[in-house]
Amino acid sequence: MCGIVGYLGTKPAYEILTQGLHRLEYRGYDSSGVAIENDGGEMHVYKSQGKVSNLEAAVDGKPHDGTLGIAHTRWATHGIPNDINAHPHVSDDGRIALVHNGTIENYAVLHEALAGHGCKFTSETDTEVLVQLIEYIRLTNDCTLADAVREALGQVIGAFAIAVIERDNPDLLIAARRSSPLVIGIGDGETFIASDATPIVGYTDKVVYLGDDEMALIRRNEPLEVISLNDGSHPGLDIQTLRLSVEQLEKGGYDTFMLKEIFEQPDTLRDCLRGRITADGNRVILSGVLDNKERFLNANRIVIVACGTSWHAALIGKRLIQDMCALPVEVEYASEFRYGSPFITDRDIVIAISQSGETADTLAAIELAKSKGAFVYGICNVVGASIPRATDSGTYIHVGPEIGVASTKAFTGQVTVLTLLALCAGQLRGTISQQQVTAIAGELLRIPDILRQVLKLDDAIREMSRIFTYARNFLYLGRGYNYPTALEGALKLKEISYIHAEGYPAAEMKHGPIALIDKDMPSVIIAPSDSLYDKIVSNVQQVKSRGGHVIAITNTGNEDMRKLADYCLEIPRVMECLTPIVASVPLQLLAYYVAHYKGCDVDQPRNLAKSVTVE
Ligand code: F6R
Repeated sequence: MCGIVGYLGTKPAYEILTQGLHRLEYRGYDSSGVAIENDGGEMHVYKSQGKVSNLEAAVDGKPHDGTLGIAHTRWATHGIPNDINAHPHVSDDGRIALVHNGTIENYAVLHEALAGHGCKFTSETDTEVLVQLIEYIRLTNDCTLADAVREALGQVIGAFAIAVIERDNPDLLIAARRSSPLVIGIGDGETFIASDATPIVGYTDKVVYLGDDEMALIRRNEPLEVISLNDGSHPGLDIQTLRLSVEQLEKGGYDTFMLKEIFEQPDTLRDCLRGRITADGNRVILSGVLDNKERFLNANRIVIVACGTSWHAALIGKRLIQDMCALPVEVEYASEFRYGSPFITDRDIVIAISQSGETADTLAAIELAKSKGAFVYGICNVVGASIPRATDSGTYIHVGPEIGVASTKAFTGQVTVLTLLALCAGQLRGTISQQQVTAIAGELLRIPDILRQVLKLDDAIREMSRIFTYARNFLYLGRGYNYPTALEGALKLKEISYIHAEGYPAAEMKHGPIALIDKDMPSVIIAPSDSLYDKIVSNVQQVKSRGGHVIAITNTGNEDMRKLADYCLEIPRVMECLTPIVASVPLQLLAYYVAHYKGCDVDQPRNLAKSVTVE
């Protein structure tokens, strides 16, 4: 949650910072702000409720020169979204400005102590406590800003990524982190900091991922200095090369990032599969699995932890791994796992799935699993994020940056990697026949082309979606491999169109939700010609006989379903274990167009953020 950007260099900072904020807006967009310091040490702070464009309008015509600055886009945790609660927060004496991503858990105690010392607060945020604490330490100890920041962070409990500047000191930018991400971009005479690499792309490809409990001192015309917050030591700098281009961050002719990302899926899945199936199609090569052969051979059990859409992918992964690896698999919400006293041993493999690689609950679940001796395997999209760094091994899904807040291509990438993982581990364990591996791997390689055909449903879905904007509730039903597909379809619709939608295993309908069915509650039923097809046909009939409208996702040429359902979205037939990838694409388009016709902001739905770095 929240995005931070900082710059110290030779160019006008304001343009770099606001461009960076636009790229980080997916992390939160209820308010934003910027602090700019000019070369004479004069500092200007501007804040505005709403999106970054509001901030730009507010700054227009006002002084914003300077080659040093920090900026923030917010997803509110403490205090409503308004101008006052927006960051940067400034100390009582107006000297220090700070932006923060994370939560300060002991802010109430610190607030009380500082108020006792006469400190005045203007906002309702936890962040303001930190800037006031820094000022208080700076004044009482008569120390440098760096010493005050380090001392203050020592008193803070919680998660933070911060950037700090001070008036009359245009040559210093300080950044620090614990649990929340922070990347430093090292350019020629200029340094950038940001919550992820996107604001840095196009300026430099040299980056350092600041470690937990580390502070960076960025001084004009001096090399970057990184200090441990714990003991003041200097950890070595691991300078990495960024492999992201500006083109990858842009909309490429589509109206929204979400639509672009839905349409990218044939390409992103090809990238995800690249080099992972041998040329003869007989073997799956996932180095994360093969390099840890003994772990996969001796595992007692697999536990998958994740949140939201990634949790839905995990449910599909459970079926895949159980079917191909003959191993029991449990799926847990990371937020429940972390506080649930889970029974984990060193013979367990814990798989953590996360698009962003920064989800706080998933990170905490990983730490807990590691502390119990489990081998932790990450499935992640963002290269270099906290989760891939915290796990013992893993696989990147390689689907490129996902900017739309609702996850689409990351979901299909996660399911693809889980299929590869199940095949690779199953082959290693001897629990899947060569014939099956070759058949499934072969069909996986055809999935990108199959998705191209599925995307031709675009016009039909767009037309149909207009009709359903009236609905206040939707039911999504699926069975077996496609029960999680139904959950994911329902989540997509509710998060971007604000229509309430429930996903259910189709057979459960008769145990309660059937009471809801009437002409105003459409049901989306995932009914491919698989082993459970006959069962699902009776669910379609049950809905129809109660006056409900049915949108069926079924296979091409299914005449019977055309007669039964009100609308049929026909997808090519694929092996049962691969249907979730293919069936989820029309569901993404359905959610997209219903939201579009309702006039919703599809890329940045209300109350949501792309990267959930708070509990
Ligand atoms: C829904 C969505 C969220 C995320 C969830 C976990 O479209 O995107 O439900 O899936 O917040 O995020 P990651 O995968 O980044 O851990």
